[in-house]
Amino acid sequence: MQTKIEKIDSSSALAVKIIGRPDEEPLDFLSFREKLSYTNISHPEKRREWATARLAIHEALKELQLPYPGFFKDEHGKSQSMNGQGFVSLTHTPGYAAAIFHREQPVGIDMDLIREKILKIGFRFLDNSELDFLENDPVHYTMAWSAKESIFKCQGKRGVSFRENILLEPFDIQDSIIKGKIRGTDFADHHYHIQVRKLENVILTYTFW
Ligand SMILES: CC(C)(COP(=O)(O)OP(=O)(O)OC[C@H]1O[C@@H](n2cnc3c(N)ncnc32)[C@H](O)[C@@H]1OP(=O)(O)O)[C@@H](O)C(=O)NCCC(=O)NCCS
Repeated sequence: MQTKIEKIDSSSALAVKIIGRPDEEPLDFLSFREKLSYTNISHPEKRREWATARLAIHEALKELQLPYPGFFKDEHGKSQSMNGQGFVSLTHTPGYAAAIFHREQPVGIDMDLIREKILKIGFRFLDNSELDFLENDPVHYTMAWSAKESIFKCQGKRGVSFRENILLEPFDIQDSIIKGKIRGTDFADHHYHIQVRKLENVILTYTFW
């Protein structure tokens, strides 16, 4: 499977993998609990996505010379390290999976295919001020959606609404950083800088706490 690994700094790394054939790479590094979870996924595509995201985090950790600790999902669905050290975030979209790890700070990562239909559902996840600055272009809308997903995953708690609680500052379609904040929740006025990458037909975003 093709992999792109990026060491962001001495504390963090990310890996993006193209989803390949099933069982193309060994998964023997998984914890017992993870192997059980994997066995319980019956849908072949979901299995490949799940496995590729774990291969990605394995490779990001190798880049930081850290052992794979195993991960479990907390009550909100966010993956947590089994040894209590470091922070992880995972994402998959048709064709790709990616993962990010940071030694000290919560992280959020997201990948989304650019699809025309996102233009029709903007009102569901965008505030009026965001609808005003966004061009009627699926790339611009997908950047906004993915940035909100990354913020959501970084904060990790359910019950945060993309439209009501996550607000993005105006940005251009060529920008590689989007600024955003959480409002109206316990984490009100927490500000994020979201990194944006375009990979063919996919938008990748990630952020730290
Ligand atoms: C859960 C959610 C973050 C998943 O995102 P997604 O784009 O559908 O899927 P992705 O492949 O990018 O991410 C999936 C990963 O997110 C992670 N995840 C799930 N819940 C999470 C949470 N509360 N916090 C952080 N990460 C979470 C999991 O690791 C999951 O991977 P896994 O199942 O292999 O372990 C997303 O669907 C969600 O619930 N968003 C908030 C709801 C919302 O407001 N939606 C918009 C309304 S218009």
